[in-house]
Amino acid sequence: MRVLQVAAEVFPLVKTGGLADVLGALPQALATCGADVQLLLPGFPAVGDALGGARTVARLGPLFGAARVDLLHGRLQGLDTPAYVIDAPYLYRRDGNPYLGPDGHDWPDNLQRFALLGWAAAHLAAGELDPDWHPDIVHAHDWHAALACAYLAMHPTTPAGSVFTVHNLAYQGLFPLGDFALLGLSHRLLWPHGIEFHRQVSFMKAGLLYADRITTVSPTYAREIATPEFGCGLDGVLRDRGSDVRGILNGVDREVWNPATDPWIAARYDATSLGGKAYCKAALQREFGLEARADAPLLGVVSRLTSQKGLDLLLGALPALLARGGQLAVQGTGDDALEQAFRRAAEQHPRQVALHIGYDEPRAHRLVAGADIIVVPSRFEPCGLTQMYGLRYGTLPLVRRVGGLADTVVDADPVALAEDRATGFVFDAAHPSALEAALARAIALYREPAQWQRVVRRAMAQQFTWDAAARQYLALYDEALRARRETPRKAGAR
Ligand code: ADP
Ligand code: GLC
Repeated sequence: MRVLQVAAEVFPLVKTGGLADVLGALPQALATCGADVQLLLPGFPAVGDALGGARTVARLGPLFGAARVDLLHGRLQGLDTPAYVIDAPYLYRRDGNPYLGPDGHDWPDNLQRFALLGWAAAHLAAGELDPDWHPDIVHAHDWHAALACAYLAMHPTTPAGSVFTVHNLAYQGLFPLGDFALLGLSHRLLWPHGIEFHRQVSFMKAGLLYADRITTVSPTYAREIATPEFGCGLDGVLRDRGSDVRGILNGVDREVWNPATDPWIAARYDATSLGGKAYCKAALQREFGLEARADAPLLGVVSRLTSQKGLDLLLGALPALLARGGQLAVQGTGDDALEQAFRRAAEQHPRQVALHIGYDEPRAHRLVAGADIIVVPSRFEPCGLTQMYGLRYGTLPLVRRVGGLADTVVDADPVALAEDRATGFVFDAAHPSALEAALARAIALYREPAQWQRVVRRAMAQQFTWDAAARQYLALYDEALRARRETPRKAGAR
């Protein structure tokens, strides 16, 4: 089966979050299962610069405001999967964040920048761009790629099936209604039962309405987004799609996140010899300027600092942590108010709290390896990868019971402890007192080294593999193709 993976991010070239990690691992896992996989990416500077021996597949001409748009194909340095790259310097050759300008606001032409990504995917699938290759399945990720499903809906004769994966329903790609005309889509799509959403154009809705199958990145989040509490106004659309919506849990890339081989951490270790982990903790305390104390429970956070991640709950529980002699190391970037709050805490308690603002991949590994507990108190979490990385590194996750966090961490309650199933600490209410109670349980367990080690070993034995996810995706691709053959495309007909 020929599969086109369409996305805006891919590790290690372009990354703002877990989306990149998924695109850095899933294509290769699919290929290992026998699929013929290609990526389709915007030609951001890091992508264009990594493209070796590229051939020009098609000149797409002036498009979406860009005078020159070419489709290139080649290998990207550091990636196994071959890639199509949309070379449109006017739209993509911009330094910094793929979605935001230097002022921290969305690029004003994001509609055109990401419409082009979807447009290219659909035309590649229609066999119009590359005589040598076209996909059976277009797999579009997040709103950035979602318009592929709408453009495909305009091509009723294209046999390719489509799968749309929601990595985060909160980011929807909303644009002024007046800009719809720039998309070159039929006006039949622009109505409240089409891609109009509260008098705006919604890229996310294009994926939810027109993909043959929809996935999200954990079974619990798949159920949650069909409810008003987590549906971001789209729960009705998702409920209408019924069993077309599935949850497939992300995996861990074992080549990138493996304490036995990680080149970035102070010492390597595995579940049978945990000595290296103590060494990593001491190194982390040194690196972050924390008091060198082997017996202080050290909490770690590696996160975007946004309200999604619930770190205000952690700030609320901080006095309790400090009173119990705990330490906190935070690495993140995002909201000013959260950055300031953590900065103040670090200034007031320099021996116990430390903060690194910014994005730093090697340091993220050192933090995950060196901490005792990784905290992910999210308000919502489609999957969450950091808690899975924590499990792998024997750094017990302390998480809220939502989305993928609920699906990956087993709370150390007395029963789970007795049955040797516990892998972390889970709390329910989005309130600092709930986090504080879980923290108290975590620190009490930490004070019983034999019990703690047992949970650490159980955590490290968890298997969240990309191989398992890839098999589920392949079965779903088959289903999407069958659905495509059986039901003609509707193209949002009124
Ligand atoms: P999300 O995609 O919502 O941000 P995930 O847990 O799925 O959450 O993925 C986050 C990814 O981004 C992980 O690979 C994590 O290590 C990484 N990450 C987040 N913040 C930083 C940071 N400041 N520096 C380095 N890596 C980070
Ligand atoms: C999103 C979600 C996160 C998920 C990641 C990869 O960024 O916020 O929960 O792990 O995508 O699927």
